[in-house]
Amino acid sequence: MIRLVVNGRAQEVEAPPLARLLDALRLTLGLTGTKEGCGEGECGACTVLLDGVPVNSCLVAVGQCEGREIVTVEGLAIGEELSPLQKCFVDSGGAQCGICTPGMLISADALLRDNEAPTEDEVRDAIAGNLCRCTGYQRIVDAIGEAAIKLATTGKRAPAAPGEKSGA
Ligand code: FES
Ligand code: FES
Repeated sequence: MIRLVVNGRAQEVEAPPLARLLDALRLTLGLTGTKEGCGEGECGACTVLLDGVPVNSCLVAVGQCEGREIVTVEGLAIGEELSPLQKCFVDSGGAQCGICTPGMLISADALLRDNEAPTEDEVRDAIAGNLCRCTGYQRIVDAIGEAAIKLATTGKRAPAAPGEKSGA
C-alpha cells in the first residue's frame, strides 16, 4: 500500500511500486483529468505537481511518491468554481481539444505561484515541456498572461499550492 496526499486528501493506493504515477491517478484513484499523450516523457499531457514541482507522471513510479503531495488538474478549481487561470484558458480559447490542457494548467499554475508577473518568454519557458497541436500556443500564452494580471488585481494568489487549501 502506498500513501499519497492527492489534492490535499490522504489516499492509499494498492499498486506495485514501479507502477506509473499516471496510472495510479487515473486508474486507481479515478482522477482522469490528467491525460496520457506520448507515455514517454515528451508531451507533458500527464504533468502533475509533485511536492510543488511539475513532473511528467508517466515517468514517475508511484513508489517514489510515498508520503508526498500531488496536485492534479482536479485540484486547481476553487470549490465548484474554476480558478482564475482556468477561466482565462476558457475565455481566451487556450483550451481546444483539451488533451494538453490539464498539463498546461499545472505548469502555468506552478509558474504563477513562483512568479506573479512573468514575461512572455518566461511563460513560454514554463510551458516548453507541454506540447499543443491545436492552439499555436499564442492563446495559451495570452491566457497565462491574463491570469497573472487577474491574480494581481484581485489579490488572489494562484490556488492549489501543496499543503494549502484551494482558495486560501
Ligand atoms: Fe507523459 Fe507524454 S504522456 S509526457
Ligand atoms: Fe488540443 Fe492543446 S488544445 S493539444
